[in-house]
Amino acid sequence: MNDTGIIGPASSGLRGEIILPGDKSISHRAVMFSAIAQGVSRIRNFSGGGDNRSTMRVFQALGVEMTQTGTEVLVTGRGWGGLCPPQATLDCGNSGTTMRLLSGLLAGRPFVSRLDGDASLRSRPMARVITPLREMEADIVSEGGEHRAPLRISGHALHGIPYRSQVASAQVKSAILLAGLQAEGRTTVSEPIRSRDHTERMLPAFGATLTVNDLEVTIAGGQELQACDVEVPGDLSSAAFFIGAALMIPGSELYVRGVGLNPTRTGVLDIFRAMGGTITVLNEREVCGEPVGDVLVRSGSLVGVELDEALVVRAIDEIPIVAIAAAVARGVTTIRGARELRVKESDRLQALALGLAALGIQVSELPDGLIIEGGTFQAGRVQSFDDHRIAMAFTIAGLAGTGEIVLEGVSCVDISFPGFYKGLRDLTGPITKLP
Ligand code: S3P
Repeated sequence: MNDTGIIGPASSGLRGEIILPGDKSISHRAVMFSAIAQGVSRIRNFSGGGDNRSTMRVFQALGVEMTQTGTEVLVTGRGWGGLCPPQATLDCGNSGTTMRLLSGLLAGRPFVSRLDGDASLRSRPMARVITPLREMEADIVSEGGEHRAPLRISGHALHGIPYRSQVASAQVKSAILLAGLQAEGRTTVSEPIRSRDHTERMLPAFGATLTVNDLEVTIAGGQELQACDVEVPGDLSSAAFFIGAALMIPGSELYVRGVGLNPTRTGVLDIFRAMGGTITVLNEREVCGEPVGDVLVRSGSLVGVELDEALVVRAIDEIPIVAIAAAVARGVTTIRGARELRVKESDRLQALALGLAALGIQVSELPDGLIIEGGTFQAGRVQSFDDHRIAMAFTIAGLAGTGEIVLEGVSCVDISFPGFYKGLRDLTGPITKLP
């Protein structure tokens, strides 16, 4: 299969409205919590991305009934006891969230499951969930060695623990909370910087009790969930590529309706504003416990910024598009405290450094970040390393540049945003060259 795309400079600014997929993180949790709840849950605006399809498939393999009509999913949960021993390996595809949250969820179920994924997922660190779950008495064997997938989980009774996580990771926090929900006694998890809090917001909607105290979340074991209807907000992480493009490409005026504005996720808006971007938030409201709003973006000139770890955590998946914006901004951008990017779907610091350099941008790679000198994108050849966010980021670089770029590995955008190229075509006009 030819998975290479050619992207040319945008023939016009982005003008109009973008239709977003539902938030990926919230879609995962909506399916998982519905699957272990009692009753029928209705999920609206479910993301059709590959990662969320992996989560659906896994729960179907665990015997949970689901029907999907467009972006609506009905999940018939039969409580914890409704999950059945899987007949085959549970394929988590490319999705770290699926594998890590599932590890906590299945550690307390009375059967054996085996979790696996693609080459990228097999290379990602799982010690961050295996270590705390083993402290809770979980029986998890890493068949991949060195705490890598495949993981064999022999589920049985767990006990609650206090756990201080060294990484600010919502996947780790959520895995421990899902184990804690079934454990005997109380579980407390704390993290160095608050990561996204969708789990803490959504579990109470399914009837669970938990307490949040600054950087600490405590949950009592032995809880049952009740079905709940979830309306998933638009995905800010997907919107960020369009927002970045609209800021960079002259003549843009973009409207983004119904996007999630959870403060643990809005670092990208703060960064773009600090770079001089004109971003207006309108109609702020709350939908199913999550802040949501509309965003209006106009193009303008950008300046370099300095990012620290606290801001990086709130923009962890958006650093690729921030790096692209930094490459056309006036002055230097320094990104630090972003070591976690090395263990995402690819080593994103390396992928960005290689791609930016290939397009004529001055860039230095740090152990935990990047220093990017603003300039102009030239024609060149870039690899996505089959990482959806790297592919989308360099697509925007192509649109904002002066020559054609050849991008190797474009189909991976389907992992989070199947409508990405169509959305760009609709907004930039038919003569812009896109895959
Ligand atoms: C996610 C948490 C983040 C993020 C990922 C989705 C989640 O990962 O990068 O795309 O849904 O919990 P970490 O928990 O590893 O930071």
